[in-house]
Amino acid sequence: RSKRAIEDHFDTAYELETELESAGKQALLDLVRSVQPADMLCSYVRQPRALGLGHAVLCAEHLVGHEPFAVLLADDLMTGPAGGPGVLRQMVDVFARTGGSVLAVQEVPLEQVHRYGIVAGNALPDGLTDVQQMVEKPSAAQAPSRLAVAGRYVLTPGVFDRIRQGGRGAGGEIQLTDAIASLLKEESVFAYEYEGVRYDCGSKLGYLKASVEFALRHPEVSTEFAAYLKSRSLT
Ligand code: G1P
Repeated sequence: RSKRAIEDHFDTAYELETELESAGKQALLDLVRSVQPADMLCSYVRQPRALGLGHAVLCAEHLVGHEPFAVLLADDLMTGPAGGPGVLRQMVDVFARTGGSVLAVQEVPLEQVHRYGIVAGNALPDGLTDVQQMVEKPSAAQAPSRLAVAGRYVLTPGVFDRIRQGGRGAGGEIQLTDAIASLLKEESVFAYEYEGVRYDCGSKLGYLKASVEFALRHPEVSTEFAAYLKSRSLT
């Protein structure tokens, strides 16, 4: 509610486009019009109450239908290796090979396990783990491993029934983690140690680091920005 920025971002900016057109600013006009790729169709759903991530995913069930689907938590910004496939692409490839749900994971220090969904299972080649156990935000003492779920999931539609059947979990919320923990009793679920970097943009420091890293890679500003950082680090 009241967070319309994403819908507006991908909509036509009628007033702006008209202004740019009449001012003959073609380059800027092209930029504004390139925001939404021609083959991309956006649909939006609202989560009327903040009941947790599992509940948010369930709100989109009627759009997804009986198909495998991806969940991307926008505050986890991910980049693949330079010149290589993005993290979700890597996960879709794993899904194509295994047919099971795929969770992006990274190893975290023990003192951070309480911030994440933690998985444990049988190690397989290619960075995969056949998940046997999954728990939301365990204490360090209760964590079954240090493999933490980052904000990317490729899930089979069976998870919707699990969310519906589950109750409230950690923090009194309807947890996606609990639904996946229930799903893995009947279906294979794989954790995948992705190639790439995750920026936790839900924290101020993570957001700042991501801004700096992306600026250093940006073709328009990278050289000047690197020079600026260098001048700052000398003071
Ligand atoms: C959510 C999930 C958690 C996952 C994390 C990744 O937690 O519930 O399992 O590890 O995202 O960022 P949140 O960060 O919303 O508390």
